[in-house]
Amino acid sequence: MTKARVVSLEKLGAPNVIQILDKDLPPPGKGEVQLRQTAIGFNFIDIYQRSGFYPLELPTGLGHEAVGVVEALGEGVTGLKVGDRVMYMNAGIGAYASARNVLAEKLVPVPSNISDEVAAAVFFKAMTAQYLVQKTYKVKAGDIVVVHAAAGGVGQILAGWAKALGAFVVGTVGSSGKIAAAKQAGCDVVVDYSQPNWVEEVIKATGGKKANVVYDSVAKDTFLGSLECTAPFGTVALFGAASGPAPEIQPEILNKKGCLFLTRPSVFPHNATHALLQENAKAVFDAIAKGYVKVQIGAKFPLEQAQEAHRAAEERKVSGAIVLIP
Ligand SMILES: NC(=O)c1ccc[n+]([C@@H]2O[C@H](COP(=O)([O-])OP(=O)(O)OC[C@H]3O[C@@H](n4cnc5c(N)ncnc54)[C@H](OP(=O)(O)O)[C@@H]3O)[C@@H](O)[C@H]2O)c1
Repeated sequence: MTKARVVSLEKLGAPNVIQILDKDLPPPGKGEVQLRQTAIGFNFIDIYQRSGFYPLELPTGLGHEAVGVVEALGEGVTGLKVGDRVMYMNAGIGAYASARNVLAEKLVPVPSNISDEVAAAVFFKAMTAQYLVQKTYKVKAGDIVVVHAAAGGVGQILAGWAKALGAFVVGTVGSSGKIAAAKQAGCDVVVDYSQPNWVEEVIKATGGKKANVVYDSVAKDTFLGSLECTAPFGTVALFGAASGPAPEIQPEILNKKGCLFLTRPSVFPHNATHALLQENAKAVFDAIAKGYVKVQIGAKFPLEQAQEAHRAAEERKVSGAIVLIP
């Protein structure tokens, strides 16, 4: 039996509920492969799930994304062999581990020009940016796009991708220290949304036209302002709640602000089938190859320090993606 170091939670709450245990990993079951994991992607959903904001049944693992090497094949697995480098972002919770059994249909080969750490930093986040710029609202040249938390992991990729598509990108950040990172990621203008006049500043940056689309993953602190910053017939894509849940609204407000479209999308339904996962991953690899998606690893932590990684994200100390190394 293979030994694995595995994050396990017996209760939900602050980062100190994260424990690391040694576990026996059984051989891979039907349709599964066994991975020796080399890099794990931290994603903000890990905080929602650890804290109980998105409740999980206990005990539970944590994490959705990792990169690894195939060590063993279960019954019926075709198209993969021992030694292949693969990654996943929607194979069920439990990515915070040194080894894991994963359904083969959830795996995507890692292109040879992408390192394990970069793959773990980019996959979940770029798959999110991919559906946001290609499906939720198809960004085109000349569009005005607002990206909140533009120095964060998803935020940087989203801002850079929208810019590469020819949009004018207004990014927001929660503190002045992150302005440079958001600019570097591709924002034309960066506004500090901790300032009380941030909505006016964003509208001013658009030349008064407001945005065709606002990508809002911050929610509580930004959502009502996002409605103000959106041009008539524009789209508000509320895709996260880093500051807490968005305030409730009456649908009529969408009429008053100019027949706005409001959506609350998620990366999981966009990749629910093997075919969709492979197709969207190809779109991400194409975007990386064209230089549309650039990856900034903001911090690396050993898996043993997963608690510290969560604290760093919650303290908003990091610009760019966080990677855990098992
Ligand atoms: N719906 C989907 O499909 C999907 C998929 C992936 C990610 N997401 C969402 O995208 C967002 C970014 O995720 P990520 O993995 O890239 O995480 P991340 O790098 O940690 O980014 C989160 C950002 O939120 C901002 N923030 C605002 N209030 C915060 C608070 N109270 N605590 C911590 N951060 C706060 C921070 O930027 P400032 O300090 O500049 O404010 C931070 O950069 C999250 O809201 C996540 O839920 C959604």
